[in-house]
Amino acid sequence: MNERLAVHLDFGGGTPPRRMGRLGRDPARRAIAFEWDEAFAAAPLPVSPLRAGRYRELLRPDAGRGATLPGLFEDSLPDGWGRLLLDREMAERGVDPAELGDLARLAYVGRHGMGALTYQPELATAPDDAVDLAWFEDVIPRVEDAAAVDELARLRTLAGGSQGARPKLVALIDEGNTRQRDHRGAPGGGWRAVLVKGRGSSDPKGSVEGEIAYGAAMRAAGIRTTPMLPLAGARECFLATDRFDRVGDRRLHTATVAGLLDTGMVHGSIDYLAIVKLARVVTRSAEDVEEVFRRAVFNARAFNRDDHVRNHAFLMDAAGTWRLAPAYDVTFSAGPGGEHSTAIAGEGRRPGRAAFARLAQAAGLKPRRRDAVVDAVDAALAQWPRLADEHDVPRALASRVASAIDAARRWE
Ligand SMILES: Nc1ncnc2c1ncn2[C@@H]1O[C@H](COP(=O)(O)OP(=O)(O)OP(=O)(O)O)[C@@H](O)[C@H]1O
Ligand SMILES: [Mg+2]
Repeated sequence: MNERLAVHLDFGGGTPPRRMGRLGRDPARRAIAFEWDEAFAAAPLPVSPLRAGRYRELLRPDAGRGATLPGLFEDSLPDGWGRLLLDREMAERGVDPAELGDLARLAYVGRHGMGALTYQPELATAPDDAVDLAWFEDVIPRVEDAAAVDELARLRTLAGGSQGARPKLVALIDEGNTRQRDHRGAPGGGWRAVLVKGRGSSDPKGSVEGEIAYGAAMRAAGIRTTPMLPLAGARECFLATDRFDRVGDRRLHTATVAGLLDTGMVHGSIDYLAIVKLARVVTRSAEDVEEVFRRAVFNARAFNRDDHVRNHAFLMDAAGTWRLAPAYDVTFSAGPGGEHSTAIAGEGRRPGRAAFARLAQAAGLKPRRRDAVVDAVDAALAQWPRLADEHDVPRALASRVASAIDAARRWE
């Protein structure tokens, strides 16, 4: 395994990737450190605006929380599904996954991960061919114990360094949304980049349809999302959504709240107050700050409690300008211990108007504006029965959601 990885920022669009520096073992400590390239340090882009401002020094992981990588690069590491695939593949190849360090994991991500960061030299990837959703559906239940090593390698390649627990792949899809091909090919000619996600093994039937209906409710509430559509498998439905880190042949640098604040995947330590502040400092956009507030209200009212630090992201373009990414992974979910992963101004269990008022104040919203946002969210969610019906959410799930929405609206 290579002891060093070159890291580039690749914004695509025909512009050559820009070398940012290299990751390697930190001789002073038993960890990995990042050394900035001199040319980059002389004219840097704010890739990690809160944690990396001194480009003449090594960027090190936060030893205090036992991190092994700086948060900036942790965002490139697959977790959940992607990690499972690599671990399973390595086990099949006779390599102990516990021996596989972060540098190797990033080398498997290579040039085709999420966002614009690339890692080289990259380790083996499967050949580029068509994406077969029927095969994907068939292999998902076999991943734990009955998939062949070449299938696992193919799945890992298709996952493209994406994160999250549910089975997923990234692909290019044609204009008619009927054909998909390998995500590593060139987009254009009507092909665009999508993320395709299936139901998790512990999710209720219809949860994919539920997420698509939640998308419609969010847009009705004025929240930005990428277009979402259902793709039929042989047995179940998959969610396909346009990738926000790929725009035509261009790529955007992507960082989650976990990456920007270098928190790791901790639950319960981050509040929407911190995300409001982050949006203000990083984007300097009043619109994005208000959008964070709107999403917090929506998540409270719609019981999206799995709103953890990797489920909120920001995007940076080639000019170094940051914006809040569209909302994603918004579904009906109980959350850890029945609470929001991200508390709303201190309230994780029953957030209502009092918590919204504290958050709105921190977001600099006047009471009238704050109330208009809450009313817009409530009005959108009042349409839930119709939206659920339109998007084929099974009756049982739709009515559980309806009761939850009803209950949440009464919290003070
Ligand atoms: N539209 C999108 N464009 C680009 N990247 C996306 C998009 N939606 C999600 N992602 C990225 O893919 C990851 C996985 O997506 P998502 O959170 O929906 O999956 P999940 O498996 O349901 O996650 P979790 O484990 O949090 O429940 C996200 O963390 C985000 O980094
Ligand atoms: Mg997620």
